[in-house]
Amino acid sequence: MRNVTKDNITDIFKGYMAEDMNPRTRQLMSSLVQHLHDFARDTNLTHDEWRQGIAFLEGCADIESEDRHEFVLASDVLGLSSLVDMIHSRDDATSSSVLGPFHVSGAPALAVGGDMKRHFGGPVLLAEGVIRDTHGKPIPGAQIDIWQTAPNGLYASQDEAQDTFSFHGLMSVADDGYYAFTTVKPVEYTVPSDGPVGGILRACGRHPWRPSHLHYIVTAPGYQSLVTEIFPADDPYLDQDTVFGVREDLVMTYQHAQPQDFPKGMALSGKVHEPYLAVKFDVILSKD
Ligand code: BEZ
Ligand code: FE
Repeated sequence: MRNVTKDNITDIFKGYMAEDMNPRTRQLMSSLVQHLHDFARDTNLTHDEWRQGIAFLEGCADIESEDRHEFVLASDVLGLSSLVDMIHSRDDATSSSVLGPFHVSGAPALAVGGDMKRHFGGPVLLAEGVIRDTHGKPIPGAQIDIWQTAPNGLYASQDEAQDTFSFHGLMSVADDGYYAFTTVKPVEYTVPSDGPVGGILRACGRHPWRPSHLHYIVTAPGYQSLVTEIFPADDPYLDQDTVFGVREDLVMTYQHAQPQDFPKGMALSGKVHEPYLAVKFDVILSKD
């Protein structure tokens, strides 16, 4: 096509695609380019603004490394990661939430009742619950991959003072689907904002804070894997999570408990001498 105009360029793009191309790729590319072109037409995008957009992408590529996933972070703060999560979330299962860049494969086994807090200071948090199917039946073969920040708000991979798997653990639940562990109460923290994504946050007058949370990936044979998080109901950033990860069913009240109430059979039994926090969180998995 030689008579390209700003009104027909979108249809021309679609016409350039081969008849025999993958139909899903056709649908995705047609819709993506339609929205991109509409965006440019609607906003009367200038050359300078277009160049800023390209510079943003180049900046993400420059900073990208094994430990720094700036493109994923961009998707997170734009709400795209959460939107994709919610589009595929099942109504009958626990809500999914953002994976984030700090999950580490190969976490050490953590026994039911085990402890992740170790020598770290801060209030003990006892987290427990049951992994269930959509009929409420416990799933004995489930595993939970658990991770969180240390009390300084840093994940192990961000902090040279922590070992690789500090605050990471992989738990096989008990035969009745029960899981329990102790840890330190998570704290709210900021997502990395020293790169191009930080520039977007500042340009939009936004902060980089996430409410405190525990991350879980729950898996069980025959069930859909679930990437999720638990948030305490009193967190100051609950209504302004910079990556849009909070869902109603993931907000839990942390109960205040006394040392004499601490249960038996846990790694820290007999070692908790201060008031502690406790949260119960059952996870529902749907079938594959
Ligand atoms: C996290 O919760 O670990 C996280 C999620 C999205 C971006 C950065 C961090
Ligand atoms: Fe996190």
